[in-house]
Amino acid sequence: MTIKEYVSCRKQQLKDVVNTLTKVPQLIIINANEDPASKSYINGKLKDAALLNIDAKLIQLEPNVTQEQLIRLIEKYNDDSNCDGIIVQLPLPKHIDESIIKLTISKDKDVDGFHPLGTLNPCTPQGIINYLHHENITLEGKNALVIGRSNIVGKPMAKLLLNENCNVTICHSKTKFTDLKNYVENADIIVIAIGKNGFLDERFNYKSDAIIIDVGINRTLEGLKGDAKENLPVKLQTPVPGGVGLLTRLALYENLIKICLTKEKNNDGI
Ligand code: GUN
Repeated sequence: MTIKEYVSCRKQQLKDVVNTLTKVPQLIIINANEDPASKSYINGKLKDAALLNIDAKLIQLEPNVTQEQLIRLIEKYNDDSNCDGIIVQLPLPKHIDESIIKLTISKDKDVDGFHPLGTLNPCTPQGIINYLHHENITLEGKNALVIGRSNIVGKPMAKLLLNENCNVTICHSKTKFTDLKNYVENADIIVIAIGKNGFLDERFNYKSDAIIIDVGINRTLEGLKGDAKENLPVKLQTPVPGGVGLLTRLALYENLIKICLTKEKNNDGI
């Protein structure tokens, strides 16, 4: 099944779950940057919410908002029982400490899965694992290579692949190119998230049954491009656009609905 088909099928299932809830789920999205990429991610999130009968509200702040003001706003929604989930869109303006903001969002409302004490996983890695499971791809004992070590994708991706019993390698900007070539050659699953258009190309040899998960979103004159060149000689390569971005958006609402289901279960019989 293509990612588009999988996502649309899963959204229908999620919508059915939302319709069984006693309260309309509410998601608060706080944005403090003027980055066009963030605007387009947020628009995607709002569109999905409308389709799933979820009440998503965007709070657009000025980029000169202070850290204190942002913390107070988050605390207001932490205390609001009608609000089920909170997202603070990244990147934040330079004068705001991202790690403090991540810890301010209640771990029980952290839809992004960034809180160290929360039970939910970050959306991009979780969305990728969900798709691989759906496609019945065996992960146990496979050589998984993660290229990129960001806090949002690379690091949590490596952890989730390890939980799936993969042999995990992480490569990054300081990895020697000759070493990277060896790792790529031996990889069954490659997840790349480095923000370099077409980095994976014919300079590398691939296993013919390898799987490439392309997390890159690079804006070029020819439109959105991934970190891998198109049509590499492998078994499965996720497209850009129409690939991992859709899986991330789906995982976000999977997380929100998990929060709502847990709340309803805990309120049972009260
Ligand atoms: N900016 C880019 N990706 C993400 C994400 O997954 N969550 C948030 N909050 N901001 C982002």
